[in-house]
Amino acid sequence: MTRSPSAPQPLRKPEPLRKPEPLRKPQPTRAGPLRVAIVGAGPAGIYAGNILRTMVRAAGDEVAIDLYDSLPAPYGLIRYGVAPDHPRIKGIVKSLHEMLDAGTIRFLGNVSFGIDVDLADLQAHYHAVIFATGAIRDTDLDIPGIDLPGSYGAADFVSWFDGHPDAPHDWPLDATDIAVIGNGNVALDVARMLAKHPADLLSTDIPATVHAGLLGSPVTDVHVFGRRGPGQVKFTPIELRELGDVQGVDVIVYGEDFPRDENSEARLAASNNQVKVMSRTLNGWLTREPTGASRRLHLHFLHSPAEVSGTDRVEGMRFERTAPTEDGGVRGTGEFLDYPVQAVYRAVGYRGSALPGVPFDAVRGVLPNDGGRILAADGTPLPGLYATGWIKRGPVGLIGHTKGDAVETVTRLVEDLALLPEPAAETGGDAGEAILRLLGERGIRHTTWSGWLALDAHERALGDADESAVLRERVKVVPRGEQVDIASEAVLVTTWRR
Ligand SMILES: Cc1cc2nc3c(=O)[nH]c(=O)nc-3n(C[C@H](O)[C@H](O)[C@H](O)COP(=O)(O)OP(=O)(O)OC[C@H]3O[C@@H](n4cnc5c(N)ncnc54)[C@H](O)[C@@H]3O)c2cc1C
Ligand SMILES: NC(=O)c1ccc[n+]([C@@H]2O[C@H](COP(=O)([O-])OP(=O)(O)OC[C@H]3O[C@@H](n4cnc5c(N)ncnc54)[C@H](OP(=O)(O)O)[C@@H]3O)[C@@H](O)[C@H]2O)c1
Repeated sequence: MTRSPSAPQPLRKPEPLRKPEPLRKPQPTRAGPLRVAIVGAGPAGIYAGNILRTMVRAAGDEVAIDLYDSLPAPYGLIRYGVAPDHPRIKGIVKSLHEMLDAGTIRFLGNVSFGIDVDLADLQAHYHAVIFATGAIRDTDLDIPGIDLPGSYGAADFVSWFDGHPDAPHDWPLDATDIAVIGNGNVALDVARMLAKHPADLLSTDIPATVHAGLLGSPVTDVHVFGRRGPGQVKFTPIELRELGDVQGVDVIVYGEDFPRDENSEARLAASNNQVKVMSRTLNGWLTREPTGASRRLHLHFLHSPAEVSGTDRVEGMRFERTAPTEDGGVRGTGEFLDYPVQAVYRAVGYRGSALPGVPFDAVRGVLPNDGGRILAADGTPLPGLYATGWIKRGPVGLIGHTKGDAVETVTRLVEDLALLPEPAAETGGDAGEAILRLLGERGIRHTTWSGWLALDAHERALGDADESAVLRERVKVVPRGEQVDIASEAVLVTTWRR
């Protein structure tokens, strides 16, 4: 029997924001500004820095913020997760850029927490640390055969096509028939990138190696499988509709995957507008004639993954047919369906990673926290340690949701100001320089905001110079060393501007 997944959980709205209490002045023993390290320069970390600056300044105090990232460039999953053919989040990037360009948050890239610096280092130099390290790994799918060659995690594939410096240089694209497991937006990104004709990606920022890899792909059929019904998909309407507009790709859905029982119809009638819009899109595809395109993208529902079959590599995928239950979940029917595929991609969610020395909830893959305050094993808040973004509440939600997270976390930090421990490091009167000295002594080549501006300009120039496409905004530089070299040519801005 298939485990019955529970009914969809709507993304919890952030709690109504409590008005931050005014700072209690004078601060106990603090000499100079409040010093805060933020680990992770994805949207959650950048929003946290910007909101912290605003709140502290509004209270008439000063704050110096260092924003660390293990990557040489900022923006986290915006740079290394969002699909290259989705440039419409440009507005968000512009506003995050402006927050960092104001100069009051100092970006320190190419510095990994847990490798280059540890908790003791940060606690010695800052009054508080906010972890915004996101979720970068695939969650596991525990079915037989999942480790066979030809079975991949979506996060790894995404990292490859987005030019992540730690992703493999080449990706094996040798399958004609591919299964993608999952009914979330990541599954759609993966399926679209696999099915799309490479010529339609030429105007994006994909590296040349990725374009060359996609050009060699013999794929004809990409099958996306959801374990629940079309009324329980976790797609969003724009992303779903977009599939129907991919050039040279037919979208195919199957009537037997659309439950028409009374309960399902009643649930659909009572569902929110997004679900109704997507239901209309999917039902519309039921009656659309295929154009005979050379590539097809099939959407299957009520298919729960049972086994990846094959001896030395993936040869097929077995699913158990499911049926809807009254509570909006599904149950296994005992009927099994086999699909001959040569590659399987699981897009069943991301997962946060533990950070050395910081409590970790291994079941949920998050830092245990109360509204952003990191909690010790006995449930009490650890002074000066906070979490925000996906590492705080799990890998669900859009970029915009990380702003609400940041407001909540920073509000807690501001409430705690009088309780924050004084950093112990001997800084010689210049705390801003002291941490840079430490990085220098350890031989860490950190990147800066001006370094990012240089890398950004370099990538844009590569885009301008590329004659294979009319409009190419940038071409990403992939190797870490090359990114650091280009960034290092910029004048180092090493002081905190206030
Ligand atoms: C494939 C994919 C596509 C998406 N597309 C969209 C989209 O089109 N639109 C949308 O609104 N949302 C999209 N999302 C959701 C969006 O990316 C997230 O909501 C958002 O990025 C979460 O922000 P974050 O800052 O918590 O994490 P992240 O963006 O992951 O940022 C975390 C940062 O922490 C850094 N880090 C991690 N560990 C360490 C360490 N030990 N030391 C130092 N730094 C560290 C990472 O390098 C990274 O830069 C997508 C998500 C995925 C997975
Ligand atoms: N363009 C965009 O805006 C964009 C792009 C990518 C990602 N994102 C966002 O990023 C977040 C993460 O996306 P995501 O797709 O990784 O996660 P998601 O939205 O949570 O979807 C995960 C999917 O995996 C399925 N799944 C989980 N465990 C499974 C199992 N054991 N067997 C079969 N199926 C299983 C889930 O099914 P159940 O529902 O049955 O649990 C769900 O369909 C989402 O909020 C998403 O909207 C946005």
